[in-house]
Amino acid sequence: MARITASVYTSHVPAIGAALDLGKDQEPYWQPLFKGYEYSKQWMKDNKPDVIFLVYNDHATAFSLDMIPTFAIGTAASYQPADEGWGPRPVPTVIGHPALASHIAQSVIQDDFDLTIVNKMDVDHGLTVPLSLMCGQPPASDFNWPCPVIPFAVNVVQYPVPSGQRCFNLGKAIRKAVESFDEDLNVHIWGTGGMSHQLQGPRAGLINLDWDQQFIERMVNDPADLAQMPHIDYVREAGSEGIELVMWLIARGAMADVNGGAKPIEKHRFHHVPASNTSVGHLILKNT
Ligand code: DHB
Ligand code: FE
Repeated sequence: MARITASVYTSHVPAIGAALDLGKDQEPYWQPLFKGYEYSKQWMKDNKPDVIFLVYNDHATAFSLDMIPTFAIGTAASYQPADEGWGPRPVPTVIGHPALASHIAQSVIQDDFDLTIVNKMDVDHGLTVPLSLMCGQPPASDFNWPCPVIPFAVNVVQYPVPSGQRCFNLGKAIRKAVESFDEDLNVHIWGTGGMSHQLQGPRAGLINLDWDQQFIERMVNDPADLAQMPHIDYVREAGSEGIELVMWLIARGAMADVNGGAKPIEKHRFHHVPASNTSVGHLILKNT
């Protein structure tokens, strides 16, 4: 059977992708940030998954105010990096896993979560920046991502957004779906976005260091309680775009310990301020 062996959490700041794409990652401003992912890149090589279930949000790239799915699962064979205004990032095409994605859609929808099924979609920085951070970035021409990816897009851009509790429960349903797939696959689930940031209005540039660090701590040790935090607390404490952090709860809800199993091992924790106008957080949890 397929199984979820680990979860990865990371911010997906677009400037990180630009720094990599423009060869600025050795510059003093970016060095401390990329240093925090050195462990992660090695860990990915040593713990290569067969499939990554990648929870992210689309930033009005594939979707727009014309159509706002709360939860959208990618069931396509492949996805192109999106043009977000400066041309597509020079990174490889993302290969999907239609069989597992369709199975998860079937199981999760029958568990009463209404997913939108997406058969054609370009993927923006929300998905490609975490892949670059975790997998490194040789030239697109001679590089493929290490494994297929199932994109799972969450609406955290246009209100109303889903609650943390719903995201956590959805993670549990995704775990059940993966574990009922009749093929021996090693699956990682990634939650991306956050941490504290606000990109617009009078509070633009807001970073709440203490709150971010507490959020990571509770994500590791008290996720069920963290899931009860109302959305307004995210916005007040972590800025208007801090609400992206509810996506981390989807990944956390899919871990063993909150589904009757053992506590995960914390393999890596990293926090860095700032990247662009944003606080960056990162965590790797491994099921035992
Ligand atoms: C920015 C955009 C994001 O989507 C994000 O998660 C963090 C930062 C930005 O434009 O700086
Ligand atoms: Fe974002």
